[in-house]
Amino acid sequence: MALTYLDVKNLSFFFDAEPVLEDVSYSINSGEFVTLTGENGAAKSTLVRASLGIIRAKQGNISIAKKNIKGKKLRISYLPQQIASFNAGFPSTVKEFVTSGRYPRNGWFKKTTAHDLAHVEQSLRSVGMWDQRDKRMGELSGGQKQRIAIARMFASDPDLFVLDEPTTGMDDVSRTEFYMLMHHAAHKHGKAVLMITHDADDVKAFADRNIHLARKQASPWRCFSVHDNQELATQLESHSDKEVAGV
Ligand SMILES: Nc1ncnc2c1ncn2[C@@H]1O[C@H](COP(=O)(O)OP(=O)(O)OP(=O)(O)O)[C@@H](O)[C@H]1O
Ligand SMILES: [Mg+2]
Repeated sequence: MALTYLDVKNLSFFFDAEPVLEDVSYSINSGEFVTLTGENGAAKSTLVRASLGIIRAKQGNISIAKKNIKGKKLRISYLPQQIASFNAGFPSTVKEFVTSGRYPRNGWFKKTTAHDLAHVEQSLRSVGMWDQRDKRMGELSGGQKQRIAIARMFASDPDLFVLDEPTTGMDDVSRTEFYMLMHHAAHKHGKAVLMITHDADDVKAFADRNIHLARKQASPWRCFSVHDNQELATQLESHSDKEVAGV
């Protein structure tokens, strides 16, 4: 049985007096890989940050599940936009950095176990960076740093992945592999994935559904709302092409 992990209702967001999001409603369930698209400035990043409570929305209801499908405490991982620009002088090695992804689970003072290390290895292998594990973070290219940030997220083994343009800087092969991995995480392990992307065409084959933020026509503001919420994968039973919020 799928669970709704994130449910956003009638969310509006203002920067000062200017609304950038109006009356947005959507939800993300376990077992699905959902993409979020819209032009530059369509408030995609703002929407996910407001949905997670990182910035506070003026209006709307946000509910986040307390438990995952196994009845354990729900864990969320948020990968911000342009994570790869972190300090080139970052002192730790690739492996240390990815291992630090296990800390929220264990607490800072708990010893890293063989199980942790197995997760770290698997995570680094899944992004093709195991061979580079002893390199310093500062020695990596932008695309490699992005892959390491993703490996760290995999190592933390979240239930809900919230990803803001995670494939920026990746080549075509890495990008497709990443989409396959997220599809697998959702369909085989019941994870929920919300991914902002500008790459809607390529990701279509792997994602279940797309949420598109479109500019409100009648508004004097550069204000965006959910335009459509389409099922992309044919294997899903319920098809909802309806507009979720008034445009
Ligand atoms: N801190 C802020 N103060 C005021 N306005 C902001 C702030 N952050 C973002 N905005 C504005 O809100 C709108 C949405 O920005 P946001 O970064 O959410 O867009 P986006 O869809 O993620 O764009 P991109 O595709 O370029 O990443 C833009 O018009 C932006 O200028
Ligand atoms: Mg953005």
